[in-house]
Amino acid sequence: MQIPIVRLALGDAEVEAASRVIRSGWVAQGPEVAAFEREFAAAVGAPCAVAVSNCTVALELSLRVAGVRPGDDVATVSHSFIATANAVVAVGARPIFVDVLPDTYGMDPAALARAITPRTRAVLCVHQIGFPCDLPAILAVARPRGLPVIEDAACAIGSEMLFDGDWQPIGRPHGLLACFSFHPRKLITTGDGGMITTSDPSLAERLRLLRQHAMSLVWDPQRVPSPPAMGSGEQSFSEPAFNFRMTDLQAAVGRPQLARLPAILAERRALAARYANALANHPLLAPPSEPPWLRSNWQSYPTTLRAGGRMSQVEIMQFLLDRGVASRRGIGNAHAEPAYAKAAWSCGQEPCDPAAHAVGRCLRMPVSEHARDNTILLPLFHGMSPAEQDHVLATLRALPG
Ligand SMILES: Cc1ncc(COP(=O)(O)O)c(C=O)c1O
Repeated sequence: MQIPIVRLALGDAEVEAASRVIRSGWVAQGPEVAAFEREFAAAVGAPCAVAVSNCTVALELSLRVAGVRPGDDVATVSHSFIATANAVVAVGARPIFVDVLPDTYGMDPAALARAITPRTRAVLCVHQIGFPCDLPAILAVARPRGLPVIEDAACAIGSEMLFDGDWQPIGRPHGLLACFSFHPRKLITTGDGGMITTSDPSLAERLRLLRQHAMSLVWDPQRVPSPPAMGSGEQSFSEPAFNFRMTDLQAAVGRPQLARLPAILAERRALAARYANALANHPLLAPPSEPPWLRSNWQSYPTTLRAGGRMSQVEIMQFLLDRGVASRRGIGNAHAEPAYAKAAWSCGQEPCDPAAHAVGRCLRMPVSEHARDNTILLPLFHGMSPAEQDHVLATLRALPG
């Protein structure tokens, strides 16, 4: 039996939705995108949602509208997919990396307070692999300093956290903006795709403008039911901007999945509970501990190597692979990647140790590095059959402890 790390769960509803759009004669951004935005906003309890081409550009656009300019610093985490840091660089700013907390893989608020420089203009935190970061504590650091908080929620659709005593979905923005991904590794996929939520309608307006070249004469299906007549005016472009649009084909495929989100979450939470049970007394791998103030969407299932175990991360992953079970190591660290390791500014400390810099060893992030090197992500996807999970569990039991 071969168990992939993730398997697409697209079916007749998505085929029917894509066919509907193809037959309609309108495949670019249009009424399906508008409907997807409305439904997404309702699903996460956000006043506004703006669809874009992917989460990387969602982050880039969010940083821009938050006022980040070339030469600014953005406090963010290294322990993330590289897109988080890349979005900061895309707006000409410097990512200043902050270490994470071991239980949630999220930004450490105390480390954030230490990392703020005179040039810091925004905080970009990440709800990593479906675990909400400690947003209230991060906001408590950022707000008094006047720093906007942008949430990288690429992996966090459906995740929830306790906020002022209430369970709230990620995406009901407490920071300024939250950004989601619809890459196939996520719970809902449109092939590629992204969504930005905010409670500020003027920011949403600005995002809508910038995602399509700051065009004055745009058919906005939210307001105008059909495209403008020929000759009804000339287009003008108020500032240099972008094509970050989502297409109607993509949005149509996302909508039926969004309608199934509660069922998807229930299924993934049941799979995670079964893993947790099976790993409670495992000699090599420990289940994650879910703090009582959060509910993960289990976008991934992270297990941690127990101290003193006789097999390494690579040996365990190879053992699983040899028996048909795909896995992944922990989330990477941007500060250790060639793209960032030797950047003269990656540590945010000026001056730093030039000799250490030269070999990419200036900046140490002990918790991030430990999480990368001691975590193994197990297969968990909606549509995973009991027999498939049984095979993973049997393989885990067979590990020579
Ligand atoms: C934490 C995080 N941020 C951003 C991204 C980028 O998302 P996208 O592939 O939609 O650009 C990803 C993608 O995996 C991610 O995991």
